[in-house]
Amino acid sequence: MYVRSFADGNGDGTGDINGLRSRLRYLKELGIDAIWINPWYKSPLHDGGYDVSDYRVIEPRYGTVADAEALIADAHDHGIRLIIDLVPNHTSSEHAWFVEATQAQPGDPARQRYHIRKGRGVNGSEPPTNWTSVFGGPAWTRLDDGEWYLHLFDHTQPDLNWENPEVRSEFESVLRFWLDRGVDGFRVDVAHGLVKDMSFPDMDNSDQEILAGATQVDHPFWDLDGVHEIIRGWRTILEEYSLPGAERMMVAEAWVAAERLGNYLRPDEYHQSFNFDLLSSEWDAPSMRSIIAGACAQATSVGSTPTWVLSNHDVVRHATRYGLPSGTNWRRWLLEGPHDLLDAELGHRRARAAALTLLGLPGSSYIYQGDELGLPEVWDLPVEVLDDPVWEQSGHTRKGRDGCRVPLPWTPDGTSFGFGSNGSWLPQPPSFSALSAQNQTGNDASMLELYRRALSIRNEHLTMDESIRIIDSEPTVVAFERGSGVQCWLNLGDDPIRLPTNASVLLASEPIDKELPGNTSAWLTLPKTHTSSPR
Ligand code: BGC
Repeated sequence: MYVRSFADGNGDGTGDINGLRSRLRYLKELGIDAIWINPWYKSPLHDGGYDVSDYRVIEPRYGTVADAEALIADAHDHGIRLIIDLVPNHTSSEHAWFVEATQAQPGDPARQRYHIRKGRGVNGSEPPTNWTSVFGGPAWTRLDDGEWYLHLFDHTQPDLNWENPEVRSEFESVLRFWLDRGVDGFRVDVAHGLVKDMSFPDMDNSDQEILAGATQVDHPFWDLDGVHEIIRGWRTILEEYSLPGAERMMVAEAWVAAERLGNYLRPDEYHQSFNFDLLSSEWDAPSMRSIIAGACAQATSVGSTPTWVLSNHDVVRHATRYGLPSGTNWRRWLLEGPHDLLDAELGHRRARAAALTLLGLPGSSYIYQGDELGLPEVWDLPVEVLDDPVWEQSGHTRKGRDGCRVPLPWTPDGTSFGFGSNGSWLPQPPSFSALSAQNQTGNDASMLELYRRALSIRNEHLTMDESIRIIDSEPTVVAFERGSGVQCWLNLGDDPIRLPTNASVLLASEPIDKELPGNTSAWLTLPKTHTSSPR
């Protein structure tokens, strides 16, 4: 949940905690069981809150710690758990520690909390390494006294030095601070990046594409073994706070090679790790089939549950991605186009089909706010309104992530389509009117009602037995059967396919009869004795 864009309770154009509180009923009726909320801590918001200046204070534009406590209580009253974002890789440059570090002399212990180093070359005028920032440009910025500090992201996000025991104990204390206030767990930002190998030579190819390149092996800062010891310390704290029926959990944002993901899921480490393979996959049946089979097998092998993600606040919304020709680099397409390649109607239709696949799978399916409304990427935001540091940091060569962060439309009319009483921090396109939650409510053909029905069926029939069996099917089809006997069929081709005989349709992404049209999915039940092969 991108709190800044969900609902604005005080009319300042920015979403906030009280706005979210006022929409808990909507979330309950949608059928979700937990909210992961993006960082809500005090922050100059140079990177949408992933630049934290105080981990124990709520950003005033979002509310107060008392509002946060009230939200946690209200969410629990609605039967919804609340997971917050922990940002341990870096602080804001406005954090008291970094301010102190910059005022201290070279060599002072206050500098050891970050990666602050002498440069290379004449007078140290070259950065210590050639590493580049994920947002573009060098990963090092020079301080006034000539030393350099490392920032894997924006220059306002200096990286913490996790070799320093003070950093470790500070984060353990932050964890306890929020657990004491009742949060149910943490989503850990850049979980694979905390440890750096400063002895690593310059990189051959230091280009990063917003976390897409993070799956490279043999790397100076992605997925080093040292991260696991840190995680084990946090897990011990979570266990201490867990009660039967009220377990505390953590989920890793770890963009690592598929075969390395299991390392994060060992019994004394993360409960879950986001699997971004579906998000990264083309609209292609063999690819999706093997991702699903692989992720389920891996989760079983480490005693964890699989996770599924189609979109989040960092990527082009899938209703738009699926409308682009196969092979399009959608990050670059935002700026470079050609924009007439987009078939928005096809993207919307595929997003409906994908929803039933996402929600038909075992484990945890993470929905990004607005996907349930079928929101597309607002790819044509004028560059003057862009807020994501990617735009500046990349020297205006990458448009960044604002297009998936445009505030939600709640009503068909009003200055910000019901987001708040006084405009919204990013402009919403006129098309948001028809996509507003109010407009879709009660309309059986809408995306919102599809999600509501799917989540209701999922909660009733799909969560008590987590098993899955992949069904042999035609090359353009992904089909699987869940433990309860419900089958999910997704036709990624353009031509219709036959469905199993005697199948009854529980739910479908488009009107269907005996055949499943192209770019359509359906949940089916079959008489118990029947075999699942199509005729
Ligand atoms: C978050 C991004 C953020 C980055 C740096 C990511 O993985 O999801 O939104 O910009 O970490 O904190």
